[in-house]
Amino acid sequence: MIASPRFITLEGIDGAGKSTHIGWLTETLRQRGVNVVVTREPGGTALGEQWRDQLLHETMTRETQTLLMFAARSEHLAQVIRPALARGDWVLCDRFTDATYAYQGGGHGVSTDTITHLAHWLHGDCMPDVTLLFDVPLEVSQERLQKTEKTLDRFEREPDDFMQRVREAYLELARQMPQRYRVIDGRKSIDAIRNELRGILDTLF
Ligand SMILES: Nc1ncnc2c1ncn2[C@@H]1O[C@H](COP(=O)(O)OP(=O)(O)OP(=O)(O)O)[C@@H](O)[C@H]1O
Ligand SMILES: [Mg+2]
Repeated sequence: MIASPRFITLEGIDGAGKSTHIGWLTETLRQRGVNVVVTREPGGTALGEQWRDQLLHETMTRETQTLLMFAARSEHLAQVIRPALARGDWVLCDRFTDATYAYQGGGHGVSTDTITHLAHWLHGDCMPDVTLLFDVPLEVSQERLQKTEKTLDRFEREPDDFMQRVREAYLELARQMPQRYRVIDGRKSIDAIRNELRGILDTLF
């Protein structure tokens, strides 16, 4: 059992199922009497949401992307995540720093050392307790994105090999941090995944 697991992040490539499951996870935790703050990255604050819009739609260098992600994260930590954890609330966050390792690192080739340096500087003392990695093959991600018919953002329009590197970077993080990571096969049915998530939550109390 993990001591006081309160900061839970959801990760995975586009269409893997993060948004699908975050609402159910929130309800299930609330039924257990837990106060839950639900949030997302990039974003989570007024300023962060403005930067999210730019990050997802404007062209910028990978260095700018990385710095802007961490700028948004700094506001998010200061205004939302740290105060919630200090109150004793749980935090469910749709993407966090591991997404920077996966997308800007794995996808765009920003060095792991640079990301680690920024991460330690900003939140070395505030790391997720549990990370749920929703893993799907590229074809499943693409098929789901096509079905949703939403306008694709800059990351969703990247070529296949980009998204493949992102997926592999996530799986590598999971291999490096088996204590924190729970890898979920996102191809399973929503009900089957809920069952699995219920089992994971059981281990946290
Ligand atoms: N296990 C599943 N089986 C079938 N369809 C699914 C499953 N999980 C999610 N979907 C569908 O796939 C689509 C994308 O899912 P969702 O929005 O949860 O992905 P996401 O990980 O949040 O992606 P993004 O990173 O783009 O926000 C949705 O239309 C959702 O209904
Ligand atoms: Mg989503």
